[in-house]
Amino acid sequence: MILRLAAALCLTLLAHAAPAQDTVAWKTGREAKLIETRIEALLKTMTLDEKVGQLHLSGRGEGFNAARIREGRMGGVMNFVVPQEVADVQKAARESRLKIPLIIGLDAVHGFSTYFPLPLGQASTWNPELIEEAAYWTGREARAAGIQWTFAPMVDISRDPRWGRVLEGAGEDAYFGSIVAASRTHGYQRGGVATTVKHFVGYGAGEAGRDYNSTWIPTSQLFDLYLPPFKASFEAGSMTAMAAFNALNGVPTTAHGGLLTGLLRQNWGFKGFVVSDFGSITELRLHGIAKDDAEAARKALLAGIDMDMMGDVYDKHLAAEVKAGRVSVKMLDEAVRRVLRVKFHLGLFERPDVDPAAAPALMQTQEAREVALRAAREGIILLKNANETLPVASSVKRLAVIGAMAVPEAERVWTDPAGLGRRAIQSLPDALKERVQAGVEVVYEPAFTRNCGTEFADKEAALRAAAASDLVIAMLGEDCEFIGEGASRANLGLPGVQQELLEALVATGKPVVLVLATGRPLVLTWADAHVAAIVQTFHGGTEGRTAIAEVLTGAANPAGRTPMSYPRSVGQIPIYYNHLPTGRPQKIRQRYESIYMDEKNEPLYPFGFGLSYSRFTYANPRVDRSRIPINGIAEISVDVTNSGSRDGQEVTQLYIRQPVAIRSRPVRELKGFNKLAIKAGETRTVRFKLEAQKLGYHDDTGRYVIEPGLFEVYLGGSALAEAKTQFEVIKP
Ligand code: NOJ
Repeated sequence: MILRLAAALCLTLLAHAAPAQDTVAWKTGREAKLIETRIEALLKTMTLDEKVGQLHLSGRGEGFNAARIREGRMGGVMNFVVPQEVADVQKAARESRLKIPLIIGLDAVHGFSTYFPLPLGQASTWNPELIEEAAYWTGREARAAGIQWTFAPMVDISRDPRWGRVLEGAGEDAYFGSIVAASRTHGYQRGGVATTVKHFVGYGAGEAGRDYNSTWIPTSQLFDLYLPPFKASFEAGSMTAMAAFNALNGVPTTAHGGLLTGLLRQNWGFKGFVVSDFGSITELRLHGIAKDDAEAARKALLAGIDMDMMGDVYDKHLAAEVKAGRVSVKMLDEAVRRVLRVKFHLGLFERPDVDPAAAPALMQTQEAREVALRAAREGIILLKNANETLPVASSVKRLAVIGAMAVPEAERVWTDPAGLGRRAIQSLPDALKERVQAGVEVVYEPAFTRNCGTEFADKEAALRAAAASDLVIAMLGEDCEFIGEGASRANLGLPGVQQELLEALVATGKPVVLVLATGRPLVLTWADAHVAAIVQTFHGGTEGRTAIAEVLTGAANPAGRTPMSYPRSVGQIPIYYNHLPTGRPQKIRQRYESIYMDEKNEPLYPFGFGLSYSRFTYANPRVDRSRIPINGIAEISVDVTNSGSRDGQEVTQLYIRQPVAIRSRPVRELKGFNKLAIKAGETRTVRFKLEAQKLGYHDDTGRYVIEPGLFEVYLGGSALAEAKTQFEVIKP
């Protein structure tokens, strides 16, 4: 026992004593200048093949040829996660003629060994510091395994939950998405890995919600909605970016010089490199803008793609394109320069190595797991709670947990790829057993197979368990092929047999709490009308089910808010809170108004919404001055009271509207939010500083315009915020 304790203590000490990972950041001043000198010196010594090699990113798996590293023909590798393998590929680079270290990349999207909630779930916390911490620990663990580059954050705004990748983003709003983008960028890079802000740009707007599909985005919207999170990530120091798969307004972004060079480099001054998406250069043929791979390679490089991910197209064709004079040495050098620049700023030439023996002790440390638990807890959204079904009442003596998703084996979302985790993930029944009062019985029945709920397991046993219980906790949702990349859906119900199961559970007459582990907002119209409570989680990661048990039992008070509107039916999509008004608004719901004949206009749950076991009321919205100069700042305050009987956290949201302008302006726009713990019975004043400079928009040419005039302000706990005040922006 003593030995075990000593070993545990040793592990903890090791975790603490481990050298802090270097923060990754652009170096400045003399250091930056010195780096430029080193780059030029190195470039002079490089052969054409070695230059092209720096632009070649290859991945672990079939066909991977480590000999190419030793030949100086590979600049980066991806998908190596086992520290010893990482060390081996890096050693191969050291054996090359110029000893240029590899940049080693991975989709560390929401964790490396410790898993945090899916990014959409992290966004649901509305807690930027916590989101940053989750990214920090992801970065730190990845770096400890020798990975210095992550293909994250994905900052694509999306108004379409049919798109399977909404789970990787922060939802539908540009302001909110920008704050999350900056937090995640800071976090990862503080943890020691360079970020890849992706997918540049418009990938979340694929027509009909279909992955990889074309997007058509007017300039004003591109600048107001899709570009801001990228800008925020670059301002936070993102060292690399990834181009998107899709064509934007007819031009595949992988060959979009106007965006990749004009906007990104010339206007925004980005100094890092741009990587293609997986094979997207060769896909230029399929887009119909290149007749062969050689042309695809040429078009991509000339547009501003520096590194070819998994396409082998630069590797095979770029040297010949240069020799034939179709790609200038100058253009090639510029791409190589950008790759080398990131490697130098990352410190890879000084410290490329990983210590495989030290890595395991740095995984799943207590601190990381605590952040994972907090993030999972704070991101849980309580969507419905009829008759205060939750937290579980003391009268409940028998709980039936139904659904295979309640156990971690059902989770197949990027979990611990290197297998370095040291602690088991709790199942929901176990986490509940630990937390319910003595004498309360918890029974578990999977009801469906783990194959995405497409088949029943023992349905009858599940229904018997439900019928014999006082309260049913049905943990259902989406997994495996239903979420993530390439997983667009035309129907947004519960997959497989799960809806049938839910209806059968409700038919037992027992109150049903629906706990959802999904990758997107589903259409919950039936559930909303029939179950007692709905708890939304977006695959909570390593500590996810523990956090759910805390919320169900009341150990934690739910404080998540949805970053996406919930449609009532698929036909409402795209659905988002900051739409424009129409000339025929919905008034009395009759013909010739902008309505559906067979559905409401409003979402089932609006953007920013989430319930709590507390109740929050708003009073006294006010602005410090009624007129604000165009370069001035308005201070806006509102009193928020927790009129419930439990301490809780409220997310106060500030929306604006400019009712009259040259262009039609959105009915609401988020411009501030604040998450605050408020004790039962307490009133807190929440204050926002609003710069008039931030109230503008882009016109059809992409020019930023701030129009003086009246601005209405709405404060409250969702996009339906009601406490209203206003001010006028004036020319000085
Ligand atoms: C394709 C995805 O679009 C991208 O986001 C990801 O980073 C790459 N695959 C690499 O896995």
